[in-house]
Amino acid sequence: MIETRGISKFFSVVNENGMAEGLTAVLNVSLTIPDGAIVSMLGPSGCGKSTFLEILAGLQAPTDGEIRIDGNLVLEPLPSTRKEMEDYKRRYRFISPLANGVFTDHPKHDIAMIFQDYAVFPWMTAIQNVVFALKLRAGGNNRSGRAARSEMMDKAVFYLNKVGLAGAENKYPSQLSGGMRQRLALARALSVEPKIILMDEPFAAVDALQREKLQDDLLRLWEDAKAGNAPIIIVMVSHDVQEAVYLSDEVIVFSPGPGGTIRNRIPVAIPRPRARTDPGIVEIQERIFAILQYDINQESMYSI
Ligand SMILES: Nc1ncnc2c1ncn2[C@@H]1O[C@H](COP(=O)(O)OP(=O)(O)O)[C@@H](O)[C@H]1O
Ligand SMILES: [Mg+2]
Repeated sequence: MIETRGISKFFSVVNENGMAEGLTAVLNVSLTIPDGAIVSMLGPSGCGKSTFLEILAGLQAPTDGEIRIDGNLVLEPLPSTRKEMEDYKRRYRFISPLANGVFTDHPKHDIAMIFQDYAVFPWMTAIQNVVFALKLRAGGNNRSGRAARSEMMDKAVFYLNKVGLAGAENKYPSQLSGGMRQRLALARALSVEPKIILMDEPFAAVDALQREKLQDDLLRLWEDAKAGNAPIIIVMVSHDVQEAVYLSDEVIVFSPGPGGTIRNRIPVAIPRPRARTDPGIVEIQERIFAILQYDINQESMYSI
């Protein structure tokens, strides 16, 4: 379970006159996300969705508020300066730094990330990308023997197969389509058997047909994990209302930024498997469209 209480994030930025100025990226976000839930966050660009997700990932420290994961307060030395934050993002592209501290007693309860802009490593083959994650997860050097290595290779092959990349083990990302690259990112995330996967617009760069297939595969893998008694929480930022509703147990709509906060929480209590054209799904999608449309109209009213 993830619980956030009163999470806010302020940045100081330099405005066009060269003066320092405060910017509120996220304001007072309190949420509880139960184990095994899929939750999507929607909202206009700039409302703080990515910032909030990075705070959950431990890539940024909140200015205010607290996060608990499985009841444990997240007390890691989180990065507070911009430089530290960038370093963290480079170092922990797909396994949260929180995985090291909070979960010492539960080493499997890791957080994996699939962020559009920290894609897979282009200089590693598909299998090397996955094995690298497994090594990072194992702590790098504490088990680097031949047996451990072959175990990691087997696991990597297993997860590459699971996401439909059998046969592409030795290809470089540049030899894969956009959809396949996201599958590789998914394999890498799943390989560490995380308890939480955070995704920031993971399918945004994939064409519509591929995207639907990826969504269905994601659901299948999520169901598999649940059936295997290792449910995964998925928290996903999306800009696609249909995707968000189709996939999620709950859709969280953020208010327009700056200072994004929760505007609506919309449960999607429709049993799976769902049909994309299910009247219940479509009705919720329309409701969310109306909310977002209303906010856009309000904004343009104020700006003229
Ligand atoms: N490191 C940073 N320094 C200063 N401002 C930032 C930083 N990161 C994000 N912001 C600002 O915070 C706001 C929210 O950004 P972001 O979380 O990326 O929104 P979203 O993902 O919803 O589009 C924006 O106004 C953005 O410019
Ligand atoms: Mg974003």
